[in-house]
Amino acid sequence: MTEQAPAPFTGEKRVLSGVQPTGDLHLGNYLGALVKFQRLQHEIPTFIFVADYHAITEWQDPAKLKAQVREIAAAYLATGLDPKVATIFAQSAVPEHAELAWVLNCVARLGWLDRMTQFKDKAGKHKERASVGLYTYPVLQAADILVYKATHVPVGEDQRQHLELTRDIAQKFNHDFDRPGFFPLPEALTQGPGARIMSLRDGTAKMSKSDPSDYARINLTDDPDAIAQKVRKARTDAEPLPETMEGLEGRAEAKNLVTIYAALAGQTEAQVLAEFAGHGFGAFKPKLADLAVSVMGPIGAEMRRLLADPAEIDRILTAGAERARALAQPTMREVKSIVGFWAG
Ligand code: ADP
Ligand code: TRP
Repeated sequence: MTEQAPAPFTGEKRVLSGVQPTGDLHLGNYLGALVKFQRLQHEIPTFIFVADYHAITEWQDPAKLKAQVREIAAAYLATGLDPKVATIFAQSAVPEHAELAWVLNCVARLGWLDRMTQFKDKAGKHKERASVGLYTYPVLQAADILVYKATHVPVGEDQRQHLELTRDIAQKFNHDFDRPGFFPLPEALTQGPGARIMSLRDGTAKMSKSDPSDYARINLTDDPDAIAQKVRKARTDAEPLPETMEGLEGRAEAKNLVTIYAALAGQTEAQVLAEFAGHGFGAFKPKLADLAVSVMGPIGAEMRRLLADPAEIDRILTAGAERARALAQPTMREVKSIVGFWAG
């Protein structure tokens, strides 16, 4: 007997993504995620949130959390998200995320979560001391996406595994409750040269908020001097740039700077090499610094301007939460009825 393909999802296209308010945003977050949000909003209805439920899977100072949420919202606005076009909100303002996460916790299998590499990285050697929330974090992420029946999720390469898990959970829910096509199987949008930006100090480690060295990353709030200095101090080698990307094999730091240049300039890496082949880093770095300052400098300035008026950011988040809830509530009502809850 041949197995029938599951019924396709026939609902509308929808974009959803989020970033945790757990530290300064950096060039990797910008090129891997934020830059795509701003482009997609004009093509597909777009929902972008600040993942404060996710943030508390690791200790967050309650006195700082709200300000951190505003800071991410300011970054969204400063990188071009328009609150009249996209829906921008805080996750904790839409409790349906947590409500659906509970149901999906009962759909996901332990074996699936055991395979999640981000948990292993974050929990480190003492996983018995990690919060239970950190373990079920990817299920909450699936709920974030599925509560809006989102079809497209712009993220960096490191989130691909969580998106695969989301598809598995959606498929199992649809199958177990015999509701083919109820949840879409969302697609990760990781294309583009910015999908995996590496540390400026170590070309084999991801640029990350949690890297103890501030010289490893360019923060969205860095001023032009700091940006230029970090580019100048970035680790490289003494060889000139080659003519092709193959020529950069084994030169992780050099390759990363070419990738960053390409992503910031909206070019391919091949185009960058066509321009700079034969030049050393003494010539390349000042050009990269100028480019980084011209793209990132205005973003930092705009963030500082927006953060001077937190009441305006709060108004945007409140209005966004209302719009988001109007979509999440009907999904949750359907889910309750499908599961057979007394209140469904
Ligand atoms: P971090 O890993 O620095 O803590 P987050 O986990 O909050 O950052 O990531 C927010 C978004 O930025 C996600 O879509 C993630 O995939 C993307 N991202 C994070 N680091 C990078 C990177 N170095 N290169 C490309 N994208 C990244
Ligand atoms: N886990 C993501 C990260 O660390 C943040 C996130 C939470 C997210 N929920 C999401 C991203 C839903 C996309 C969709 O970057």
